[in-house]
Formats: sequence, C-alpha cells, structure tokens
Amino acid sequence: MFSRSLVRTGLLVCKQDSVVGTKCILPALNAGDRRQGASSSAGVINGSKVKTTEDGNKLKTMEDLDGPSFMTSLYWLFGKGYFQTTHQMQIEHSKIYGPLWRSKYGPLVIVNVASADLIEQVLRQEGRHPIRTDMPHWRGYRELRNHAYGPLTEMGVKWQRIRSILNPRMLKPQHVSSYTNAINEVVRDFVQKVDWLRKTTGDGVMVNDLAGELYKFAFEGISSVLFETRLGCLNEKVPEETERFIFSVGEMFRLSPIIVLFPKSLWPYLPFWKHFVAVWDHLFTVAEDLVQKKMEEIQERVKKGEPVAGEYLTHLLVSEQMSVHEVLGSITELLLAGVDTTSNTISWALYHMASEPEIQERLYQEVESVCPGDKVPTSDDIARMPLLKAIIRETLRLYPVVPGNARITVENEIVVGGHRFPKQTLFHLCHYAVSYDEKIFPDPHAFLPERWLRGADKQLNQHPFGSVPFGFGIRACLGRRVAELEMYLVLSQLIKHYEVRPDPTGQIVKPITRTLLVPATPMNLQFLNRGAAEDEPRETTHEAI
Ligand code: HEM
Repeated sequence: MFSRSLVRTGLLVCKQDSVVGTKCILPALNAGDRRQGASSSAGVINGSKVKTTEDGNKLKTMEDLDGPSFMTSLYWLFGKGYFQTTHQMQIEHSKIYGPLWRSKYGPLVIVNVASADLIEQVLRQEGRHPIRTDMPHWRGYRELRNHAYGPLTEMGVKWQRIRSILNPRMLKPQHVSSYTNAINEVVRDFVQKVDWLRKTTGDGVMVNDLAGELYKFAFEGISSVLFETRLGCLNEKVPEETERFIFSVGEMFRLSPIIVLFPKSLWPYLPFWKHFVAVWDHLFTVAEDLVQKKMEEIQERVKKGEPVAGEYLTHLLVSEQMSVHEVLGSITELLLAGVDTTSNTISWALYHMASEPEIQERLYQEVESVCPGDKVPTSDDIARMPLLKAIIRETLRLYPVVPGNARITVENEIVVGGHRFPKQTLFHLCHYAVSYDEKIFPDPHAFLPERWLRGADKQLNQHPFGSVPFGFGIRACLGRRVAELEMYLVLSQLIKHYEVRPDPTGQIVKPITRTLLVPATPMNLQFLNRGAAEDEPRETTHEAI
C-alpha cells in the first residue's frame, strides 16, 4: 500500500521551469535602546475603540514617529558604510531617535523597535498566525519555479499546517534526544578533522578559517538528522556539491538585502537577479537529490518487504501528511536555516573560550566531571552541564545570529509604546541593540556566562525579552532543540580534547551582517591536544577580544 501511494505522489520530484514574477526576507536593518517615556502602553485595537493610552493621553500614530528618510538611510548604509554592520546601526539610530522610530528601506516602511519592553509588546500581539515578513523575493523565487513554500516562507493557516507536521520530530524532547548518536558520530569525525587540519595546514596547532570548517560540520550534522545519512562533508576532500551549497547559501544571503531595495517589477532587469535565481536553483537541487535518494532507498526496502522506519525525512515521506513537492519545499528551508546559524554560534563560542582561559578551564572541568575519560556525552549528561549551556546563551546574546527579526501585524491594529499601528505594519525588532542594553545586561560588552547561571543575582533583573536568540511564540525557531543539542555536543567534545588558544598574530574578528550575523574575517585558532605532550603552545596573546 505504501509503495503504491509513493508512486502516486510521484517518485520523481519534478523539475519545473515555468516563468513567473519574483520577491525577499527583511534586510537585517538593526537598532538600540533608550528611555521609553510614558508612552509604553500596549493593546490590540478592535475597530477604533482604543484611542488613549492607559494614563489617559491621546494615542499617537505611526506618522508621529521620527526617523531617517530613505535618502538618509542610504547615506548611512553606503555613505557612512553601515551596509555590512546594520546591527551596529541599530544602536546608533536608537541613540538618535529613541527606542521606536520609523524608517524607509526601498519600497518598505519599517517601524524599528529597540527596547525589550516594546519588543515584548509587539510579540505579545502577534496574533494566531504570525508573519515575519512577506519575503517577496524568497517567495517570488518559489513562484517562478513552482516550488512549495516551507516553514520560513509560508503564511497563515497553511504555515500552521506545515509547522504542525514538522514540529513534533524537531521540538519534542524524546525525538530530539534520539538524534544524539547520529550527531555524536559527526562530532567524533569533526574532532578528528581538527587534528588533521592542525597537522596538514596548521603548523601542528592551528585551525585556519574555523567558521568555514564548522560550516561543513553543521551541514553534515543537520543532514545526519534530516536525511539519516552521512554526506562526507568532513572528509579530507569535501564533495563538490557541498562546496557549491555553501557558496549558494552565502550568495543568497548576500544578495537578499540588495534585491529587496528595488521594487519587484525591476527585479528581472537587475544584473544580479539571474544569479540570485541560479543560487536558489542550486539549493533546491541539492535538497531534491537528497530527497530523491531517500525515496529510492525507501522503495527498495518496500520491494524487499523490509520494514520502513526512520526519523525525520523517512517519517515525513512515509506518513504522507505532506506531498513530496511540499516535503521538498520544507526540507530545503530546514537545510538553509540549519547550517550558518549553528556553525557561526559555535565559532564565536570557541573564539571567546580562546580569549577567556579561565572560563575555558571551568568548562573543561565541568565536562570532565560529568563525562570522565572516554565517555561521550549524552543528552542526559548535557543536562548536568550548566556552564556549557550558559556559555552558548551568552554567545547568542553577544552574537545573535538573527540580529534583527521582524513581524507584520495582520489580524488587528495594535498599540505599541503609545502609538497606534494599522494592520500590515512591518516591525523590525532590534534584538542586537537590546542585547547590549546595559540596563538589562550590566557590562554588556563583557562575555559573562554567569549571567545565565541559576542563582546568579544578575539573572533576577533580566528582562525575558532582553535576549531572545531563537525568537518567540509559535513562529519561533523550528530547529532550536536540535541546534542546541548539536552545539552542546560539539563544544563539550572539542574542549575535552583540545585547549583552544587565540591566533598568535592577535587578529581580532568582528561580526558583520549578511542577513545573518557572521564573522567578518576568517577566524583562526590554535587547538592544543590536551592528551599529547608534543603539542607545544605557540606564542599566544590573551588580550581581550
Ligand atoms: C544557533 C542556532 C539557531 C538560531 C540562533 C536560530 C534562530 C532563529 C530565529 C531567531 C528564528 C526566527 C524566529 C521568530 O521569528 O520568532 C528562526 C526561525 C527558524 N529556524 Fe532557526 N535558528 C537556529 C538554528 C536552526 C536550525 C538548526 C534549524 C533547522 C533544523 C532552524 C530552522 C528554523 C526554521 C525552519 C525557522 C522558521 C520558523 C517559522 O517561521 O515557522 N534553525 N531561527
């Protein structure tokens, strides 16, 4: 019965080449924090009943908000050079305009929100089917090629349906912990790859471009969960397809904020539009090949009368809650969302371990005490490593991978900060700026994992919306639990095997925004084998990073 229905849904995922229009994600324009004043009341408006704030003042409108014109924004981006540091621009603009301001970005009018209180007000009124942005360029590509939308791009009740199918095996603890063995195999190979890199290209100790190497780790890790198969990304020779996938994701994120500057009607005439379409094509082709292989494998088993069981993709295909076409749309977006995010976070965590030897030593002691000798951590072990978790938490505060998130109000007019906003208002949530708000995080530039440890005095003052790296509510990150597991397992194993030290040249790595927050320059770190006497540390500088 299964094999019949699999054939019915079309074993071959069709490649379609129809031509339609186009659209994109919100460019990560970012902001900071300042006093909110009295106008901080929030509330959903039904009709036009609510006209005053809680303290009786008349509600202001969106037009009452100050902020830069499109020309001023362009000047900031290209004249002052903030195009790649829009996260920093969040902070600068909030100093000028306060925690709530209006800006123009190409055809978009954006309300920027840069205080934890106001972000909370927006998110608590996000409605039953929250929308991040309408992502015209990403959705446009899918329309052009007749691909299905996935969790990132779908909206309304259709989005809710997709999430209800994808959520259980991504977010339920018992399913997530069942991925531990698969991820640990990838971690084991990565620990060995580090050794190989040190010996072959690193003068015995150095791993050059750590973020690039972790990217391959993350691709292999998420693939092992989604496809229940190994792709060979950690082999000495990385498959060409993987290299192209990495390149395509980078290009797609690089071009996204540029394309969205222009009206949709102009996109086909932009010199880089074809390239944008081509890199998306490649992402879908990679996912399609992997889905195709899995379907052939399933069919083979069915033919032999063998039971068909498996975790993520197998389950999606066998349960038939989605068509193969829909599975492809979702799997492509999961792959896309699941690589840069984890790899960059692990990179920054290691970067700080290198420059904070005391914290690194405490982490090593914690890992050793829970998993002595050769014991490989399980998810139960991880539960007993509070410092490990706090280090990831603090890393995500300082380097929120999504430095600026967004919401569009669809169901009701809403009130935020004493202003009434109509339906279809696009809010840009300036998480980066809020992460550095010294009222919420004293000494905000310092890497202090203690902030997140239970019992720490400072934690008491923390605002629940001060750092929300995985987003909020029912539209929050689908891969959060898998990402956390992956990051905990690899960081604990790396620190167990190696002492990490900074680049002896003293090179400082800063973040840039390329839709996501990523390292601006290659990150090179020394890895000294804890178990081997021959590893002589090279001259290092433990200067603050
Ligand atoms: C450090 C790792 C990660 C971080 C910091 C992160 C962060 C985020 C954030 C901030 C959002 C937006 C949430 C919102 O709008 O409220 C998001 C959405 C999403 N993430 Fe992640 N993510 C990470 C890893 C992953 C992984 C590993 C996967 C895939 C397995 C993934 C899949 C997704 C998907 C599919 C969405 C869209 C959800 C929706 O719109 O319904 N993420 N992520």
